[in-house]
Amino acid sequence: MRTVAPAKINWTLEVLGRREDGYHEVRTVMQTIDLCDELDVAESSGFEVHVEGAAIPRDENLVHQAAELLAEATGRPLRAEIRLRKHIPPAAGLGGGSSDAAATLRALNRLWRLDLGIEALASVAERVGSDVAFFLRGGTALVAGRGEQVLPLPDVPETWLVVAIPEHELADKTRRMFGELSPGDFSDGSRSQKLAEGLRRGEALDADALCNAFERAADVVFDGLEAQRRLMQQEGAGKVHLAGAGPSLFAVCAGESEARGLAGRLSAAGLRSVAARTLGAVEATAIVE
Ligand code: C5P
Repeated sequence: MRTVAPAKINWTLEVLGRREDGYHEVRTVMQTIDLCDELDVAESSGFEVHVEGAAIPRDENLVHQAAELLAEATGRPLRAEIRLRKHIPPAAGLGGGSSDAAATLRALNRLWRLDLGIEALASVAERVGSDVAFFLRGGTALVAGRGEQVLPLPDVPETWLVVAIPEHELADKTRRMFGELSPGDFSDGSRSQKLAEGLRRGEALDADALCNAFERAADVVFDGLEAQRRLMQQEGAGKVHLAGAGPSLFAVCAGESEARGLAGRLSAAGLRSVAARTLGAVEATAIVE
């Protein structure tokens, strides 16, 4: 069986502060987009994971961790052949690894006929990583806690984006970026809450509501990021936003042709970019057998 593992952006990403357990308390409105990895899962007498399109060390591949934890939690023998085709650049702020893990849980739930509901899968997901539970449903959601509390929202009307993906070599990026935050970057979560309430009422996405607590730190940590933002604006992007803890940048476009035009010009100028549209919850979790 085959499933997609979509990337995400954050319409908002607020950090409230550091917690006793070392994690940070977040409020974020997350959104799946149609830049997707693909995951094929088949019956096997052993356990094998093949990755195409990116070099991911075994102990950093969340597909392994997700499969092992699901087998352990359910008492199932760890048997499957998993083929992962990477299209989402790793450690870009687009949630690729977390999405691969969630896709693994969804697919193995089906392959192993476990019939677990989202809540049961979520309890495994949150042990794999803070962002994994969101991708079990995908679409649009208000996410709280360290990332594991997911409140689904109605799908936003299809929105086109240009997503620029600068290269970087920052090891252990997410932890390092949280460590770069200072109290001035913290906020109370009300912008995320307000956007979520508007979306729940069926209001259009308010472009002025977009925010990200990592914007300042990202410009400090990622060499050239400010120049890349300027390039996007020179080429006609409106407001430029950081995705997750960066360094990917995105801007909302008027439609597909604007997004594709911008992505083409940015890539030609040396900044790898793709046009992407928002992906609703059904498309973000479809499994084809
Ligand atoms: O949960 P995950 O393994 O993706 O997180 C990686 C690291 O990012 C954590 O070890 C922690 O240092 C940091 N983090 C955090 N607050 C969060 C999520 C992650 O400080 N809400």
